Amino acid sequence: MKLVLKFGGSVFFEGENINTKLIKRYVHTIDQIRQKHEINIVVGGGNLARKYIEALDYLGAPESFKDLVGIEISRINAQVFITALKDLAYPIPPKNFDEVIKALNSGKIVVCGGLIPGQSTNAVASFIAEETGADQLINITDVDYVYTSDPKLNPEAKPIENIKIDDFIDLIMKNSGKAGTYNLFDITAAQIIKRSGILLKFVSGRDPENIVKAVNNEKVGTAVISKIKR
Ligand code: UTP
Repeated sequence: MKLVLKFGGSVFFEGENINTKLIKRYVHTIDQIRQKHEINIVVGGGNLARKYIEALDYLGAPESFKDLVGIEISRINAQVFITALKDLAYPIPPKNFDEVIKALNSGKIVVCGGLIPGQSTNAVASFIAEETGADQLINITDVDYVYTSDPKLNPEAKPIENIKIDDFIDLIMKNSGKAGTYNLFDITAAQIIKRSGILLKFVSGRDPENIVKAVNNEKVGTAVISKIKR
């Protein structure tokens, strides 16, 4: 199979610190999966990006500038992961779509951060999934399921195991889409998933085994079902 793994930046943080132990466990898991499957990776900006964006917002920066700073932070997170993956990874996070395509031809695992303002790293992950003809895009995040509403804000929110892409799009349309607030998934990303019929999964980043389960189609997290792949 061809896989794209999207890591929420927050997966790698434990409070203020970078969770290097967890990153090492992920490297081990990825090394096992790549024996059988092709993998590419996208890393988000996480809480660090949100902190910078909040400060810039307070200081009066325009949305697009806040996005650019978010992109820089996600690229720094990508560089941390590249360091951990050593020779398995392409040595630098691509800066634009052309560089992504060049990097994908290297045979190494491409680890990308953000690319352009006005979207999230989920859009980057969806683009790479589309470009590589990926079978699955696995979104590794800080919640164990997609919920009927934000579980951090609403204790009544219910976990969803399977959802059709159109219902998923309705769910995420409720989010605002300002810099740093493409909460679960942004609409650009969802539209790429829909048009290419990519199977999208959400799993908790606490345990690297969750990716193995997702790859093996075992019951874990939420599956977003698009049309059957041709
Ligand atoms: P993300 O919102 O993608 O980070 O990027 P994340 O880590 O995935 O978020 P969590 O942890 O899963 O919740 C951080 C910010 O960088 C900008 C956006 O402002 C985004 O909110 N960004 C990122 C872009 O403008 N373009 C990109 O291609 C990527």
